[in-house]
Amino acid sequence: MDGIRIISTGKALPERKVPNAKMSSYVETSDEWISSRTGIKARYFSEKETSLSLSADAARQALERAGLSSEKIDLCIVATITPDYATPSVSCLLQKELGLREDIPCFDINAACSGFVYALHVAAHMMNGTGSRHALVIGCEQLSRILDLKDRSTCVLFGDGAGACVAERAPGIGICGVLGAQGDRDALHCCGQGRKDPFIRMDGRAVFRFAVTKLEETLRELERCSGVPLEKVDYFACHQANERILRHVQRKMKIPEKKMVTCIADYGNTSGASIPILLDEMACRGLLKKGTKVFAAGFGGGLTYAGIYLEMDRDLPGAEGKETS
Ligand code: UT7
Repeated sequence: MDGIRIISTGKALPERKVPNAKMSSYVETSDEWISSRTGIKARYFSEKETSLSLSADAARQALERAGLSSEKIDLCIVATITPDYATPSVSCLLQKELGLREDIPCFDINAACSGFVYALHVAAHMMNGTGSRHALVIGCEQLSRILDLKDRSTCVLFGDGAGACVAERAPGIGICGVLGAQGDRDALHCCGQGRKDPFIRMDGRAVFRFAVTKLEETLRELERCSGVPLEKVDYFACHQANERILRHVQRKMKIPEKKMVTCIADYGNTSGASIPILLDEMACRGLLKKGTKVFAAGFGGGLTYAGIYLEMDRDLPGAEGKETS
């Protein structure tokens, strides 16, 4: 079975950036509490943007960087828990918006913060099944729509945004990864719009414990199935829920600090969008070069967890003309 590789990335954010200081106008909190407990300094909240507009902007950037027209896309999957409509899905709306071909599968998946990695696995298997070549895989969230701005234990954590990638079926490499679920309503749930309590509710400490345990197990499993020892991995692209979760796992597993890449300070927790936004940041920082080995891992609502091994076969576009680190 062929594997999957990412050939380009893109991202889109709402216009309105909300710094921590602004959150203290909604709830009793402080920049000091938020940044020391989570690493977050700001997030984006949508005003006129929609899940479709954010996804489309991110996807257009990824397509342009891949040098591909929309007719070359054979599959479109959007990972989201905040679609604009229960139906049509964001991916069906994208089919029309981007002019994707009509004879391709377009659907959304819900695996919360693990959604993008779940979607990459689904794309890999579907491309093997159909023999097709290019998938558009997107993570998009508008969590501001399901945030209770009176609940300080959740509203300071989350933000909106979209990340996209063009992924290619990759003969000669296997699909290596982890997908799992540990069903739990109490740790994290959201009834959604139209319900008595439409907002995200979370037992932060319970999810924290799940996250540190599952992230470590997922990275160990990626090490086993890829045959790439941790010390040979160039970067770890993990779900951006809390900088403390990432630093805890990084130190426990003796991973050098700079290899555990973060962008939570600028975006907060964007759930299914966090890993593709991070991959785009990495491409823009010039970190994703030919031969770069990445373990990507997500964890969160469901509860779910997911990991995938990615290896670049080219320098990913996005860093041109910029100083790279
Ligand atoms: O993407 C989905 C996955 N999500 C996650 O992985 C989230 C995992 N959990 C976490 O990241 C952390 O548990 C949180 C950031 C959510 C909370 O951090 P914590 O260190 O676990 O804080 P806590 O919930 O134990 O609360 C500590 C104190 C409490 O006050 P008392 O009881 O000690 O007096 C809270 O009421 O901090 C208080 N608190 C706040 N204070 C100021 C809670 N939220 C805030 C706030 N501002 N926003």
